[in-house]
Amino acid sequence: MTDPGYALQLSEAELARYRIMAAAAREAETELWQLAGIVPGAAVADVGCGPGAMFPAIADAVGADGRVVGVDGVPTTVTQAQALVTASGWRNITVQVGLADATGLPDGSFDAVMMRHVLAHNGLREQAIVDHLATLPRPGGHVYLVDILGSMMFMKPDDPDVDELNEAYRRFHAEQGNDLNVGTRLDDLLTAAGLELVAYRGWFNIIKPQGELRPPAWAARNAMVAAGVISPDDLDRFEAALERMLAQGATIYAPLFGAVARRP
Ligand SMILES: C[S@@+](CC[C@H](N)C(=O)[O-])C[C@H]1O[C@@H](n2cnc3c(N)ncnc32)[C@H](O)[C@@H]1O
Repeated sequence: MTDPGYALQLSEAELARYRIMAAAAREAETELWQLAGIVPGAAVADVGCGPGAMFPAIADAVGADGRVVGVDGVPTTVTQAQALVTASGWRNITVQVGLADATGLPDGSFDAVMMRHVLAHNGLREQAIVDHLATLPRPGGHVYLVDILGSMMFMKPDDPDVDELNEAYRRFHAEQGNDLNVGTRLDDLLTAAGLELVAYRGWFNIIKPQGELRPPAWAARNAMVAAGVISPDDLDRFEAALERMLAQGATIYAPLFGAVARRP
């Protein structure tokens, strides 16, 4: 059974968000990737890889002599990631279905294990997930976590309807036991898993959405309606507000944390 209970629907808008975040990551995290050993020739696992938005950056970093294994718990997402790999002709990237706390990957078989934007969706399993990730690098290899500080994410210009949607999103996650501020605890999760902390940094990604891009709250709208956090009658109002905001040249300020830790 590989249903992680993931709430964000994949759509063109959500794929666009992943691609923009991945492009921002290449710029912002160069030093952390080096410290994590995501370098030419490395074997890298991307756990919770989604549709593979990070694959171009990882493939570029490890080069033709490296290899990449993507894992995700949602089979249709793995199919999308696989389609990207096939279309891009990457022979050294494979993708498989698996849970973040039980990937099925062999112990000690990677130089670096990356997990991005997954822990915030797994409040009840954060430590179990990081404990499992800690088994995957070889001794001296690294785990690299990236996650958010949701309480400080904001968008400009101010719009009361968008604020209401984002507030509902935070409430929705809190009700599921998720911690949208998990970025501030990456160091503790890694050391509790028996790893040695190498680096821990925070920064803002400042994103100018274009075209289809929407915030994560919009991708979770159906799950939020099902959970009773918003009503179906609110959706048209929220969509109109997002379109209004985009038409005015919106900016998203996304506070992120990245932590690298070594397996002894
Ligand atoms: C926000 S997306 C991030 C995707 C990718 N890491 C990136 O940064 O572009 C989170 C992904 O993690 C997957 N996921 C969430 N919880 C999971 C779990 N417990 N086991 C496996 N996959 C999980 C979801 O299916 C989704 O594809």
